[in-house]
Amino acid sequence: MTKLLLDVDTGIDDSLALLLLLASPEAEILGISCTAGNVGARQVAINNLAWLDLCRAPEVEVCLGAEVPLIEPLKTSEETHGPQGIGWAELPAPQRTISSRHATDLWSDVARQHPGEVVGLITGPLTNLALAVKRDPELPRLLQRIVIMGGAFNHRGNTTPTSEWNVAVDPDAAKIIFDAFSGLPAERRPAVCALDVTETLEMRPEHLARLAEASGSTPVETLDPEDPIGTRSTASNPLVRHVTDAIRFYLEFHREWGHGWLAHMHDPFAAALALDDRWAETVDVTVDVELAGTLTRGTTVADWGGVWGREPNARVAVRTDPQAFFDHLITRISALARTLA
Ligand code: BDR
Ligand code: CA
Repeated sequence: MTKLLLDVDTGIDDSLALLLLLASPEAEILGISCTAGNVGARQVAINNLAWLDLCRAPEVEVCLGAEVPLIEPLKTSEETHGPQGIGWAELPAPQRTISSRHATDLWSDVARQHPGEVVGLITGPLTNLALAVKRDPELPRLLQRIVIMGGAFNHRGNTTPTSEWNVAVDPDAAKIIFDAFSGLPAERRPAVCALDVTETLEMRPEHLARLAEASGSTPVETLDPEDPIGTRSTASNPLVRHVTDAIRFYLEFHREWGHGWLAHMHDPFAAALALDDRWAETVDVTVDVELAGTLTRGTTVADWGGVWGREPNARVAVRTDPQAFFDHLITRISALARTLA
């Protein structure tokens, strides 16, 4: 079993990451903290609670933290993730409630309860984790390791020409984390899933059709690019229906941005890596965050050639097997969907 703490900005692909973890018997989620990013932090919390309800998940604590980045004014991204952050999906209002514990306390308390055992997965801006580290500087040594979805190295940005969303929303927090997690033994360095690798994970309508089929959901729908914007799924299985509605929005967004009729599965990849290191080939390298650049604030820089002479502080994922990843995602989520039919 892998004990996990999540920090998320749910988000369409954060939703799929959560579903993958809920569908993974080897994952034990000890808590979820919510960061403002794709949508406001409260909406992130509602989305997480609603997915947990829908999946009839065991009780999982969902906490709020900072509702704005450390310095940067908050930006959200409803045009990417839909009005509520879950695309066109309309999940029933959750029965569960937000915990009264603050996100920073969650991270510190849980890490201290299980020293050296907890894997942290961050698929949103790093605001909460940076605040937790400021409050409890031991945290990097108390966690077993962390996996971050963030950054763009030898790859174009998705927020500015050179920056990736999670880092661009709160660059100061990202810098704090790369500094605070420096000096760890090699096997405990943060694993970083940047756009260079996450944009190789292209979800296409065929994947959704395979998910429906494996879930025993009818009709098996193949989302057609000619469909009117916002067409809703009629899938018999509730999980397949909501996932299809969420992903349709993401396909529409990616098409609008010139990527084609596909959707990048950034966060589910980071979730898979949090459970099993073998999902990525990684390179140990020193990573830092540009804070001062007038054009490049929020850009992640990797010192591939070692010219800084600084110890590596990250294990950057450089390659994965997209086909094996989608097979895994479909197998796992369909098994969960079948339990809800
Ligand atoms: C990241 O930004 C968000 O929009 C996604 O959820 C993902 O975590 C990709 O840049
Ligand atoms: Ca995210």
